Amino acid sequence: MERKPEPELMDSEEQTQAYAEADFEESNALFTRALLDAFQDLPGTGNLADLGCGPADICIRIAQRLPGWRITGIDAGENMLRRAREAVMAAGLERRVMLRHAYLPDPGLSRHSFDAITSNSLLHHLPDPMTLWNSACQLGRPGSAILVMDLRRPRDEQEAARLVDTYAADAPVVLKEDFYNSLLAAYTVSEIEDQLSRAGLEHLNLQTPSDRHWLAAGRLAA
Ligand SMILES: C[S@@+](CC[C@H](N)C(=O)[O-])C[C@H]1O[C@@H](n2cnc3c(N)ncnc32)[C@H](O)[C@@H]1O
Repeated sequence: MERKPEPELMDSEEQTQAYAEADFEESNALFTRALLDAFQDLPGTGNLADLGCGPADICIRIAQRLPGWRITGIDAGENMLRRAREAVMAAGLERRVMLRHAYLPDPGLSRHSFDAITSNSLLHHLPDPMTLWNSACQLGRPGSAILVMDLRRPRDEQEAARLVDTYAADAPVVLKEDFYNSLLAAYTVSEIEDQLSRAGLEHLNLQTPSDRHWLAAGRLAA
């Protein structure tokens, strides 16, 4: 099936509210566990950037699991960042989780200043997927940990509809539509392999941790 891009930013009041209130426990817990499993040797302190952080649920989970780390969530959506700020305050993490408004690619973001880069569900929003991989290389230092996860595009629209029924049957309509459109906009594993090779990141370990996700993890060249 051909990729069908969806709007890059999801920043309407309705979308951000539904997204911030949605239960992403399964995929966000999978993401956080994958980070800790892939990089068991992370030092006690460090700086991590989460690209396309959305409502910051993943930033908060990581901050709770890595108590010596400072997390910077980066997102282009003003409404989404407002939700993120509320969530960070509610978790009492405003001294360790910083939120930054930036539209990637952003050459103004400081170069090589993060020890780890993470991103979940941003790639399929980007008209040019290299934006994500190049931003990771811009922001990371030599040897920085990188973990990126996203949906993978199903074979056809029937398979996309089946995944929505399986995993979002009880979700609000706006979220079901977002999920369906995101599956159609997602990249395939072979497209990710091609992107990694173009970014000089072909050494990242690429896996499919569920029936709808791919996950790439590894370190920037030292
Ligand atoms: C599907 S959400 C994922 C949010 C979060 N990572 C999560 O897993 O819950 C994608 C986010 O990427 C942001 N985004 C899309 N394009 C962006 C860009 N070029 N620069 C920065 N953020 C972007 C959107 O505003 C949105 O908040």
